[in-house]
Amino acid sequence: MPEAANNLDAKDYGIGIPQSTEGFFLKGHSHLDWGMKDRLARIFNPKSGHTVMLAFDHGYIMGPTSGLERMDLTIVPLIPYADCLMCTRGALRQIVPPTCNKPISLRASAGSTILTDLNDECILSMEECLRLNASMVALMVAVGSTFEALTIRNLTTMVDQGSRYNVPVLGVTAVGKDLVRDARYLSLATRVCAENGAHVVKTYYCETDFEKVTAACPVPIVIAGGKKLPERDALQMAYEAIDQGAAGVDMGRNVFQAESPIAMLQAVRAVVHDGEKPEKAFEMYRQTKG
Ligand code: 5RP
Repeated sequence: MPEAANNLDAKDYGIGIPQSTEGFFLKGHSHLDWGMKDRLARIFNPKSGHTVMLAFDHGYIMGPTSGLERMDLTIVPLIPYADCLMCTRGALRQIVPPTCNKPISLRASAGSTILTDLNDECILSMEECLRLNASMVALMVAVGSTFEALTIRNLTTMVDQGSRYNVPVLGVTAVGKDLVRDARYLSLATRVCAENGAHVVKTYYCETDFEKVTAACPVPIVIAGGKKLPERDALQMAYEAIDQGAAGVDMGRNVFQAESPIAMLQAVRAVVHDGEKPEKAFEMYRQTKG
């Protein structure tokens, strides 16, 4: 307990030096509270403004996807190279070492699998997400699908609960069988997520007009990798997405199904954080792999 008497007099008031009033490096988030900004700054690197998230939540709808049969063997070695881990609570408790100290984007919606209609989902309680020390909670938003209203309701509920405890919400734009991944649809879906309170939106890259998708979304966008591509093409896609305004990637199959997942994740980092061109990043990949 500090003593009340005989302390040194206060004298260093910095008179004439204005107190700095920093903004915040992520778009749309200058007005968030401290805890929310702190969580986002664990996920996005404040220097580059970008993030490389590693997604391995596929099992919750797809079962043991190629590369995720034994996550203890394939995913754990990748953890040091990712900025943030996107996974289910099952994978988190079962295989992610609590000592790894990585921010978690927790898959917080569930309810259907590839064997039935996707996106008929409920959400985890915020209490459970906080128990798992999630830095962000992620849920599916299926704009244009049968379950559009349900998933948007899930989003608003999660945003209400996240706001209470300063936990940001990642809206994941689901793409159903009948929906086209073009800029028109992706702009609509990402904007719906942001307007309903998502702090970050995950979507797909599209080759035409992707910069219009990122421009019209007032919060950061991260892209999913989608199905496995040749490594060179996946690096090209990451480069173009960042170049056209994405704030990062949340990649799964293009990393853990690569011939050398660690080398691939390092090459993706070079593109996302250092702005390396795809040719250079691919050369780095080949050398590291070798
Ligand atoms: C599924 C997801 C996945 O995390 C997402 O698709 C990322 O993985 P990939 O890069 O393999 O597409 O959100 O709903």
